[in-house]
Amino acid sequence: MSNLISNLPLSYFLGAIIALLAFQIIRNVFLSPLRQIPGPFLAKVTPYWLIFTDLAGHRTTTLHRLHERYGSTIRIGPHEVSYSNQDIIKEIYSQQTVFLKAPVYDTMVVPPGGIFSFRKKKQHSQRRRLLSHAFSQANLLDTEPLIRDHVKNALSCINSSLGVPLDIFITFRRLSLDIVGELFLGMKFNGLNSVEPPEFLADMDLHFILCGIQQNFPLLYHSLSILPIPSVRYFLSARSRLIKYGENAFRAYIAQYGRDSGRRDLLTKVLIAKNDQPPLTDLEIYTEISNLVFAGTDTTSTTLTYLFWTLAKYPDWQVRLRTELATVSESSWSDGIPAYKDVMELPLLEATINEALRLYPAAPSSMMRETPPGGKVLNNVFVPEKTVVSMQCYTTHRNHSAFPNPEHFLPERWLNASSDMKLNFMPFSAGSRACLGINLAWMELKVITAALLKNYSVQLAPNTTDESMSMIDHFLAAPKAGKCALIFTKIN
Ligand code: HEM
Repeated sequence: MSNLISNLPLSYFLGAIIALLAFQIIRNVFLSPLRQIPGPFLAKVTPYWLIFTDLAGHRTTTLHRLHERYGSTIRIGPHEVSYSNQDIIKEIYSQQTVFLKAPVYDTMVVPPGGIFSFRKKKQHSQRRRLLSHAFSQANLLDTEPLIRDHVKNALSCINSSLGVPLDIFITFRRLSLDIVGELFLGMKFNGLNSVEPPEFLADMDLHFILCGIQQNFPLLYHSLSILPIPSVRYFLSARSRLIKYGENAFRAYIAQYGRDSGRRDLLTKVLIAKNDQPPLTDLEIYTEISNLVFAGTDTTSTTLTYLFWTLAKYPDWQVRLRTELATVSESSWSDGIPAYKDVMELPLLEATINEALRLYPAAPSSMMRETPPGGKVLNNVFVPEKTVVSMQCYTTHRNHSAFPNPEHFLPERWLNASSDMKLNFMPFSAGSRACLGINLAWMELKVITAALLKNYSVQLAPNTTDESMSMIDHFLAAPKAGKCALIFTKIN
């Protein structure tokens, strides 16, 4: 038999491969139930068109342009569809939705995973119930003194760079890591005080690259893992290092404080199980908290970066916000930082942050879900089961009828938000898989923004332009230049 195969001319093999490819193309383009959905031809033929767009960091903006061109339903892969009309939001992203997270989430977190990556409904809702008490508003208010210490540190950091360009992208990354590191790992990363950024941040960046390789090129991933080259091994072990930080920090924490210290951080709250549920194992806890540090770092810092960049571009909004902050009683401020309760309901502050989240959502791209068994009809087209369907908030946030002049920074639009605006606005996603850290995020965003604006005015540094700040995204967004230099001036 092997003789027979080796005697076949090469042209037979080539012919067979071409026939197979031709069959795949015909099946994907002409026979697929998704064939009537518009989209780029290459996307119908092969998933690699989207994979390379994604790896280049242009997934979100490319899909947005395609929605503008083709409408609310576009085929973006042989088995993948993107939607942009608001009728679909409730179908895919509600509390009761039957659309579960897509398989891509399996590789998005540090193994063995946790709340963010669990795809099975029961497993996810059990973990969510267990963790959500740690994130309640009351518990978060408890952590305020810990957060204030880090904001104070950020103010000193800015004080030492007054009048000269300061890269606030890295400054906010370090600040966010310091905050969530302290809240969930009980650990001081001292990011703001170190010369070099903490290794955790570099490992987070490596983790995202690894996810891309593992998801899309599993063969390459496995081949890399057998190479005995030290730099490759270091790269591949980024994830285990992330978990190791969590494990070391967790063990040090337990050794120092015990399991029911009553400390004001959120780790203590995670440690105390709710009455009706078994407690998490140590492995589950330190994996979960490492993933939480991950989820709470770049999301908050990117939002703050784009917010302050926008405020630097629109100084009139700095003045309006400062006027609003002047209504907060002097006794609320200590060390230049306000009490959260006194700024949490300021309408202009909230409107401005909302507008930054609308234009520059930190997680702008497709929240991928899978059609349930039996498939579903969406926008009048039957979509078979296990098709990946999604919406991206970058596009719903630019829905012309909900947000007239969608590309303009108009915080005042939020002072009287319509129901359509609220429906289309989903920077924290929506439904059962919406952000668990939303209350914490709002507390950080409001306290930090109020503190910085009260103390400083901010302007663009010469090299910070619309071009340098244009968004690239690898699930989370970042400025194309990888930095955002702004100049702070002290207000007396
Ligand atoms: C401005 C800041 C933030 C933004 C814009 C944001 C955005 C999001 C989005 C869009 C999702 C849904 C992801 C998906 O479906 O794939 C999400 C989920 C999540 N976020 Fe956030 N997030 C922020 C801050 C935080 C913080 C501070 C934490 C906690 C430390 C956190 C923890 C989580 C968790 C645990 C989930 C998974 C929830 C679940 O699946 O049940 N986030 N976030």
